[in-house]
Amino acid sequence: MERKHIEFIQSQSLYWTRGPDGIELKVLSEEAATGDRAALIRYPAGWQDNREDSLSAEEFFVLDGQLDIGGESFRRNYFGFLPERTGEARTSESGALVLSFRFASGDPDGRSEPLRIDTAAMPWDVTVLDGKLTHLRLARKILRLGPNDSGRTYLLAGLPHGVPQVPDMPQETHPHAEEMFMIHGEMKSPQGIMTTGAYFYRPGGILHGPHVSEFGFLMFMRQPGSNRVITEWSERRAPLPIDAAFAPRSAFELPEAWRTPHPVRPVY
Ligand SMILES: [Fe+2]
Repeated sequence: MERKHIEFIQSQSLYWTRGPDGIELKVLSEEAATGDRAALIRYPAGWQDNREDSLSAEEFFVLDGQLDIGGESFRRNYFGFLPERTGEARTSESGALVLSFRFASGDPDGRSEPLRIDTAAMPWDVTVLDGKLTHLRLARKILRLGPNDSGRTYLLAGLPHGVPQVPDMPQETHPHAEEMFMIHGEMKSPQGIMTTGAYFYRPGGILHGPHVSEFGFLMFMRQPGSNRVITEWSERRAPLPIDAAFAPRSAFELPEAWRTPHPVRPVY
């Protein structure tokens, strides 16, 4: 089973819900039957938890604050991966805002070595570019490659003024899923303008794009189903999505707050 198509939401539009253990949660995407889930998690200052039960594998990225797990510190811009395990001591003295991707219980894709990466200290890879995406001036940092070609997790950045001087462009389809959280920046799409805090989960086989960026972006990307991007470009070209109105696509009915247009430019 797979999580459902949602493209896109601004996570600011979702309400925080308080869990029984004191954390606050915004569930971005979930397969309730298996526990496969993407969420924003807010740990209050002084939070601590000692679990003794079985915990499914988890990838996470610290957006703010600091989280300590098993004596290891994860600060802002740190990426972590924890395989399925029994028991865990997790604390946050200062509080933390964390982007979390919890695997389904027993998922073999979550069986690999734990990772703790200070992503801000990694060099950007600017060498690998798809010829049809040169307008975005892309760079990336690969954070994790799943076992058995099960998926790649990476940071993707693009320069401002990534809008080509053409009226239309081809669209793309992948056989694998794509999942994105906008850490900072802006990207224009036919579904509207994604800004800081935007999120989508797109299963494989869905025609999408074109995408252009006027102000640049830093994205947290996941690619469930393949360790490399496989793209089929359409023959037919679609108009450039300049300032398209917010019109999210989804495989289920979105709550009204999620469909409400959001500010796309800073307010001074
Ligand atoms: Fe894509």
